[in-house]
Amino acid sequence: MKNIIFLGAPGSGKGTHSNMLISDFGYTQISTGDLLREITKEDTELGRKVKNIMASGELVSDEIMLELIENKLQMVEGKPFILDGFPRNLTQAKVLDSLLTKKNIDYQAIYLDVEESTCRKRITGRLTCKCGKPYNIYTEDLRPIVEGICDVCGSTLIKREDDNVASFNKRYQVFIDNTLPILAYYEEQNKLVKIDANQTDTKSRDDIHKEITEAIND
Ligand code: AP5
Ligand code: MG
Repeated sequence: MKNIIFLGAPGSGKGTHSNMLISDFGYTQISTGDLLREITKEDTELGRKVKNIMASGELVSDEIMLELIENKLQMVEGKPFILDGFPRNLTQAKVLDSLLTKKNIDYQAIYLDVEESTCRKRITGRLTCKCGKPYNIYTEDLRPIVEGICDVCGSTLIKREDDNVASFNKRYQVFIDNTLPILAYYEEQNKLVKIDANQTDTKSRDDIHKEITEAIND
């Protein structure tokens, strides 16, 4: 099973497809967004700083991110992992490569290609649960059975602070400016697979998941 680097705009389904791969294959997910959201709960200068940056939709500094990712990679050593939300720019991609090369670890980069308007709608309709199950009020099979309550663990569902149109627009622009250029970097190394991850009448989430599975078993 290949290690995975998920690349994609906000709302492209990085978290959703990570969950599906975890339940099928037992991957360990490293979501830098989730790790940072944990840091924002701390009543520290760093916690407050990260909270403000995330709410604005800008990127947290490379200095903070690189320390975070290095520690996390050490913790998952030996287990197949999914990087969800890292790297976000070329500097992060290059440092990651040097970290992984030192450890002799290979990976498959997968770009989840989704239209901007679809991403915007998904983000404004998303609800999350602390157990990780994703929900969306605009998609019939992603709505909770009881409004505002998780079907799995019964907790109250939460709307992320950055799940609003203004923050999405900023995050999307940051994605275009900083993250999209990484695609060429991975393409040059023959490490990139692009997947059309727009759900349509003829393409279900399971179909997208199947394409991802084929890419990692290649
Ligand atoms: P992060 O938490 O990574 O947010 P993001 O990249 O903006 O991505 P999202 O989590 O919003 O979307 P997703 O692709 O996971 O979509 P999901 O599967 O949930 O980062 C947040 C912030 O942290 C950043 O803005 C930045 O400040 C900071 N940060 C993080 N990493 C960083 C880094 N490396 N460097 C610097 N800063 C960093 O799906 C979305 C919704 O759509 C859900 O409701 C879901 O149910 C629904 N959905 C999913 N798939 C489908 C489908 N096929 N059809 C219909 N609905 C679907
Ligand atoms: Mg996510």
